[in-house]
Amino acid sequence: MTDLPPTSDVPVLTIDGPSGSGKGTISREVAARTGWHYLDSGALYRAVGVAAGWANVDLSDASALVRCTFDTRVRFQDTPGGEPRVLVNDVDATTELRTETAGAAASAIAAIPEVREALKDRQRAFRRPPGLVADGRDMGTVIFPDAPYKVFLTASAAERAERRYKQLSGKGVSVTLDGLLREILARDARDANREVAPLRPAEGAVLIDTTGLGIDTVVERVLALLPARYIA
Ligand code: C5P
Repeated sequence: MTDLPPTSDVPVLTIDGPSGSGKGTISREVAARTGWHYLDSGALYRAVGVAAGWANVDLSDASALVRCTFDTRVRFQDTPGGEPRVLVNDVDATTELRTETAGAAASAIAAIPEVREALKDRQRAFRRPPGLVADGRDMGTVIFPDAPYKVFLTASAAERAERRYKQLSGKGVSVTLDGLLREILARDARDANREVAPLRPAEGAVLIDTTGLGIDTVVERVLALLPARYIA
């Protein structure tokens, strides 16, 4: 496994930020507007978390989790106009992946350096023509440090909890606003303070605070960073 940054000429736009900052929605929309591929790196960590749960792997057993990472197959299937379906070991785990349990498991697993290492090449393999929108926490800092376009999205914790609440309750997932806010703050702290790939803006990343901004406004701000020839 190599740790050298890819030298590929394929353009990459990295969109990093904390949970609920709007990364997923914005990234998918920007991918649609450019015709570029989309990497939902959080889904990979969530998939390992879900697979670990299915296999009754203890979240404190780092070596079992590393084995689980190598054993977990993840496939993304596009759906017309919607969020891609995610198959974990050939089982449709799209809904389970979005639960707070899966998010918390992903965050715990993501703190293990060998897990991050095991997922590096898998993430870099998404860099294919005509381009890639890479959504995550360390896309601009670790996975695609040579990306020509980098964005860091933020939003207040209260607004992020509210967005998550709407998103999850709209899907019939039972959650409380308070619970989500606590979960988001705990996850932020874990993601920002871990030793490997802590959440922070990449050097040269454009910071966009999405608090109070609509999706379209943010999408336009992100697209404005790309040369016009890339926009469909
Ligand atoms: O973005 P999402 O909420 O799906 O990510 C779930 C968790 O996976 C995050 O809280 C974070 O701990 C971890 N993650 C990461 N690096 C990434 C993407 C996600 O550590 N590039």
